[in-house]
Amino acid sequence: MTRTTMTTTTPITIAIDGPAAAGKGTLAKRVAEAYGLPYLDTGLLYRAVGKLAHEAGTDLGDAEKVGEIARRLATDHLDDPALRGHEAGEHASRVAVHPQVRAALVKFQRDFAARPTGAVLDGRDIGTVIWPEARVKIFVTASPEVRARRRTDELLAKGREVEYERILAEVRARDARDSGREVAPLRPALDAHLLDTSELTIEMAFRAACDVIDSSMGGRNDV
Ligand code: DC
Repeated sequence: MTRTTMTTTTPITIAIDGPAAAGKGTLAKRVAEAYGLPYLDTGLLYRAVGKLAHEAGTDLGDAEKVGEIARRLATDHLDDPALRGHEAGEHASRVAVHPQVRAALVKFQRDFAARPTGAVLDGRDIGTVIWPEARVKIFVTASPEVRARRRTDELLAKGREVEYERILAEVRARDARDSGREVAPLRPALDAHLLDTSELTIEMAFRAACDVIDSSMGGRNDV
């Protein structure tokens, strides 16, 4: 069922950022569904660029060449289920450091955000760079240990052989790359609400996010 903010037709504009495996995708999807809003997982754009570059044999560190691939990205590239995989995430994080890549992807994200109903976008720099005007900004986080545990369990459930310690090292490396890059580093916007999910179930995190959204939009109308 859809939650609505009453008394207003103001678009509901929600930016959700946070590090890898903090649960922001799951949360953003549920929020979008609950409020009847279109949802864009912006990580998919970087994942698609990383995958296309990797498949073309392009050096992921070559900003010009990878930037060219980003400029030619088409929406049907985003449907590939392999983009959700672990390797695609690593490639994405490497190509996302290039200003040329980021610049090529800005317009698509801003056009999506400008939909008249409002929208939910999740990523790393939505509240800070892509959509500073979003009315609701949530920065979802969890300790690296909790995120690595969740990711390990997820991969084990899919039948993959993984070690917690290796995943933890990867989570830390990805955090360092995403937060340490010069352009649009991962960090909470000054006006973002911090949501630490370390000790929360998905349901609790969802409820907490709805409380933030309802109060930021100036009222609530629970269903
Ligand atoms: O959210 P994700 O795990 O799908 O993102 C994969 C990588 O893409 C992430 O490590 C950094 C990059 N990314 C980014 O730089 N900016 C975004 N708005 C979304 C993702």
